[in-house]
Amino acid sequence: MHGVGDGRFFDRFARLYDWVMPAADRQSLAAALARADGDIDRVLDLGGGTGRASIAVDAGERTVVDVSRPMLTRARTRTASGPGRPTDPPGPLGAVQGDAGRLPIGDDAVDAAIIVDAFHHMPQQAAVVAEANRVIRPGGVLVVREFNPSHPLGWLLVRAEHAIGMKSTFYTPADLADLLTDTGFSVDVLDAGFEYTVVGTNR
Ligand SMILES: C[S@@+](CC[C@H](N)C(=O)[O-])C[C@H]1O[C@@H](n2cnc3c(N)ncnc32)[C@H](O)[C@@H]1O
Repeated sequence: MHGVGDGRFFDRFARLYDWVMPAADRQSLAAALARADGDIDRVLDLGGGTGRASIAVDAGERTVVDVSRPMLTRARTRTASGPGRPTDPPGPLGAVQGDAGRLPIGDDAVDAAIIVDAFHHMPQQAAVVAEANRVIRPGGVLVVREFNPSHPLGWLLVRAEHAIGMKSTFYTPADLADLLTDTGFSVDVLDAGFEYTVVGTNR
């Protein structure tokens, strides 16, 4: 799966990743997931890497899907009693190696999918959103946390990632909202600074 998106960068970076990244924004994720109709028990974390965002989500079953085996190796060992941070909630994470644009998961199988700091690394973004729409049950939500390329810090991030050879494609909040709407989600943009959250409810 090394040819899929920017996955090969993360193969090399996996051992350092959790030491240099801040914790995921638990409150933003909770506010977005609260938009779902009904309970959130089963969550897919697409491009979930080491499980950094999964452990910030309160759900019974959390499964990380990622192209990078080294990132997933870290996610698999991440439980309340494992080598995660002391604040990690209990319960093991599931981990599946796969491309978010071709999910090995059945229709209507989950209550929510999250994509945190990963959508811009995925090469077939329309296919990723379509797959999310397929696997999320009616009333469930797709939550995308991304960086806004029209914000000054986003502008710098785009250039920095391209300078080191990443093929990142960034969406503005409005363009990402349009993509989700066109795929069949009912969409809200919850915050729209440098980092923003778009949440789509599957109708
Ligand atoms: C910056 S990391 C973010 C990891 C995690 N979501 C987090 O918030 O810490 C981006 C991740 O996206 C993964 N990725 C890139 N393209 C992908 C694809 N097509 N399908 C699944 N994962 C992908 C990379 O391997 C990497 O682990």
